[in-house]
Amino acid sequence: MTASNERTVTVFGGTGFLGRRVARHLLEHGFSIRIASRHPNRAHELFGVDDPQLQSVEADIHDERSIANALAGAYAAVNAVSLYVEHGQETFHSVHVGAAQRLAAQARRAGVERLAHVSGSGSDATSPSLYIRKRGEGELAVQAAFADAILVRPAVMFGPDDALLTTILKLLGRLPIYPMFGRGLTKLQPAYVEDVAEAIARALERTEMHAITFECGGPRVYTYDELLRTIAHEARLKPMLMIPIPFAVWHVLAWFAEMLPSPPITRNQVELMQVDNVASPEMPGFGELGISPHSIEEILQEILYHSA
Ligand SMILES: NC(=O)c1ccc[n+]([C@@H]2O[C@H](COP(=O)([O-])OP(=O)(O)OC[C@H]3O[C@@H](n4cnc5c(N)ncnc54)[C@H](OP(=O)(O)O)[C@@H]3O)[C@@H](O)[C@H]2O)c1
Repeated sequence: MTASNERTVTVFGGTGFLGRRVARHLLEHGFSIRIASRHPNRAHELFGVDDPQLQSVEADIHDERSIANALAGAYAAVNAVSLYVEHGQETFHSVHVGAAQRLAAQARRAGVERLAHVSGSGSDATSPSLYIRKRGEGELAVQAAFADAILVRPAVMFGPDDALLTTILKLLGRLPIYPMFGRGLTKLQPAYVEDVAEAIARALERTEMHAITFECGGPRVYTYDELLRTIAHEARLKPMLMIPIPFAVWHVLAWFAEMLPSPPITRNQVELMQVDNVASPEMPGFGELGISPHSIEEILQEILYHSA
């Protein structure tokens, strides 16, 4: 842990799955934290109200003035805001491109020195997938507004209260047969959420000020089928029948599921499961930041304990 300092980092989305860990790691690195989200009370529930190094403010990244207020006097900013399902005015474009650009432009205007923008591994402005394309366009928009922004592209993340392993464990424990995405051949390189949070804290501490993109993938690449078998084995669940379900069928199921208030699956998730999600070995990642990423096997017992 480094000595305490006066530098404040505003963490947009600081109450989220990743953002709240980013806030904790930044605190451990001696930064003061300002959590910015639409529900500041959640920050009080998560962090308590007693830490003098931590404050929480109400901010909506669609609203320029609330972004500016949240950034006032900050040394650095992190954008860890998400949108996984489009609804009404909340579209992948409005959040991942429009609002990301707005936040970056406001950060530049406010004299913020460092900006870490969280995107996703494989983001690509030319992708046929709307979600992946908007993440790619968002990165370009952020770089246009804040030239030396740090882009952090995590692979799918795991940890207690995640959406990946917790869901798989629940289904493995309950279903007699497991419906696989396609033939289960899509490659995934899941990253431990605490490692990604530490990577963001270390990236903000770097003295080099130039633009850089980190792709953060875990220590092992699995096919989806291998991932299911590894989790079943580690959780001591008996081997089960895994049946391949074509992606076209998943798309139809997800279309219906999206009519539910909290859909168990979305078309966007199905699309993501059709594309390999692996960190590029040519790009900087955990290694450049001195982090040895944890494996699923190391963390699974903790996740089992939390999901019991
Ligand atoms: N989870 C993964 O496996 C994964 C993998 C790769 C990349 N990522 C990326 O990592 C980032 C964080 O994801 P996450 O899974 O941690 O998300 P999350 O748990 O859904 O958290 C999202 C955060 O954003 C805030 N937020 C949402 N809309 C907002 C708005 N309009 N204005 C201000 N704050 C807003 C939420 O708080 P309020 O609702 O209170 O505002 C919450 O704090 C995202 O960019 C995501 O795409 C995630």
